[in-house]
Amino acid sequence: MKKIFALSIFTLFLVSCSNDSESDLMEKAPDNNENPIDTSGKVTFTKDILPLIQSKCSSCHVSGGSESNYTVYNTARNSASTIVNRINRTQGSGGFMPEGRSKLSTAELALFDQWITDGKLE
Ligand code: HEC
Repeated sequence: MKKIFALSIFTLFLVSCSNDSESDLMEKAPDNNENPIDTSGKVTFTKDILPLIQSKCSSCHVSGGSESNYTVYNTARNSASTIVNRINRTQGSGGFMPEGRSKLSTAELALFDQWITDGKLE
């Protein structure tokens, strides 16, 4: 009888141990639930693309301008492939963007490509 008692204590000890490690896992879970999409390290419109549009495409592609307003995420996202096409043309050739200005740097061009690859995140 003593043996059984000792055994059940031991079992309880094991169970409580496994419960402990389970709750450890549970404590880590909320992080993942709060951020279902991990955007760390990924190119996003707000963080990377918008500042470029504001410095390179403003005065033409802005709110109230005569051209498409690419400072708006949805407009830029829907035209992403056209934008990439225009900014990769030879400077000064037909349809080249930014019109009348210097071609974007290789790093800036790569940022637009990566934005599309990463899923055109906002
Ligand atoms: C000096 C003014 C000016 C600047 C700066 C400029 N654009 Fe444009 N953009 C225009 C004009 C005018 C048109 C319409 C004529 C055409 O399609 O070429 C146009 C057209 C476009 C189009 C074709 C679709 C559309 O909206 O009509 C894209 C895409 C575009 N621009 C992207 C850009 C991007 C990206 C930049 C910044 C890197 C930029 N532009 C900078 C004047 C400008």
